[in-house]
Amino acid sequence: NAPFSADIIVVGGTGDLAMRKLLPALRHRDRAGQLADDSRIIAVSRAGLDHDGYRDKVSAELAGNSDDPLDTTDHRFLRRLHHVTIDATGSEDWDALVDLLGPPDHRIRVLYLACAPTLFGSVCTGAQRNGLLDERARVVLEKPLGHDLASAQRINGEVGAVFTEEQIFRIDHYLGKETVQNLLVLRFANSLFEPLWNAAGIDHVQISVAESVGAGSRAGYYDESGALRDMIQNHLLQLLCLVAMEPPATLDREAVRDEKLKVLRALAPITGEDVHRHTVRGQYVAGAIHGQPVEGYRAELDRTRGPDGPPTASRTETFVALRTEVRNWRWAGVPFYLRTGKRMDRRASEIVVQFRPVPHSMFPQLDEQAPPNRLVLRLQPDEGVRLHLAAKLPGPGGIRLHPAALDLSFATTFGRRLPDAYERLLMDVLRGNPTLFMRRDEIEAAWSWVEPILNGWGRSRHGPRPYPAGTSGPASATALIERDGRTWHGDEDD
Ligand code: BG6
Repeated sequence: NAPFSADIIVVGGTGDLAMRKLLPALRHRDRAGQLADDSRIIAVSRAGLDHDGYRDKVSAELAGNSDDPLDTTDHRFLRRLHHVTIDATGSEDWDALVDLLGPPDHRIRVLYLACAPTLFGSVCTGAQRNGLLDERARVVLEKPLGHDLASAQRINGEVGAVFTEEQIFRIDHYLGKETVQNLLVLRFANSLFEPLWNAAGIDHVQISVAESVGAGSRAGYYDESGALRDMIQNHLLQLLCLVAMEPPATLDREAVRDEKLKVLRALAPITGEDVHRHTVRGQYVAGAIHGQPVEGYRAELDRTRGPDGPPTASRTETFVALRTEVRNWRWAGVPFYLRTGKRMDRRASEIVVQFRPVPHSMFPQLDEQAPPNRLVLRLQPDEGVRLHLAAKLPGPGGIRLHPAALDLSFATTFGRRLPDAYERLLMDVLRGNPTLFMRRDEIEAAWSWVEPILNGWGRSRHGPRPYPAGTSGPASATALIERDGRTWHGDEDD
């Protein structure tokens, strides 16, 4: 595999995403020898830095990560970094970038838009007008891709006026996570699960992404967004698609995305009264995480906004739980429960597939002592797969059942560093492989499904339900699943 010759232009190159995710990911791929000597990373921002100033900033940032100290190979990486000051909100002056890049050459040009989505269209047009693009150029769009269906369509239209669909890479970093890709392998490279992977074999599915962090320094962005737009519309729906989709014939870019789209289109709409019956939204108030007191969401927002102005009465949700179904032959009647929140009691993201109980029990105590089989895919922390089984408790006193588990930890089994999602996805951009990126119709189908929920909430007199930081969310989220005679995985032992 020859290393890639590329010019990666990161618009928003001094922002949080670039610093925390993109540059560390590129640094790892550089260490692995995937960037050719002439590859460059060109940060575009309003920061007014020169190249050395930017290198100092990045090197301070990388040095701050004590898990992964700077070493000699990093000098080569730092030399690749450049910085160009452009005010993407309106500047007509792209000369500095044009001078640095020149007309397209043998290097693949990647325009990575880690900036506000309202700028996506104008940045693409600016790059085109200034002669920076050729037919091999690619654009990467970070989320949020719009605020609702209409804005997503507008952005897709603007970017689509400059780039063809094959050149557009809409990133959802969850698709680059190891366990998420492993879900494809688990389902389609093993014959064990697929015969049971339907309404006859599966009782229900849970997808949970719990974070212990709060909105923090991103509170300004987050308040405009909320958990439904920030997490459900993209990450959790993408996970649901991978669990529920039909086997694609190949790993081909269109084959996989066609199947995911069919799932999105088969999702039971949540509209009218169902918005209140099938969704719960919450907002954290002050509480404690691992014994440390933490402030509530509104206080955090007030602090980031500064002392001026009245205290916020924000109704933005920091937690969502919902119940939906995939209305097709395979999944008829199987509930899919989705749950995500900030400032929860733990950081745990997992997909839980609960199988149906045995049709007839020879063991009277089966239900209490060994619940039905569960397959748990742990996205983080400690990525892996765990299959919960019933086992016989060892001993001479007759058969007593006990739950037991087969546990596969990727780190222990494979004994190597698991790459960050961005590493895989950035290399896919350079390879020109969009299989793990979202196609325009997928994004728009996801917005179409989410929008009635947003509208229903918008019409409600009630705001989100408060939950103390450090808990598993509002009690009504527990009630949502218990109403169906089920429980959230992980909450049973609390
Ligand atoms: C981002 C959201 O897309 O995903 C954040 O905007 C969230 O709010 C993050 O914290 C979670 O990603 P990860 O990889 O840490 O689970």
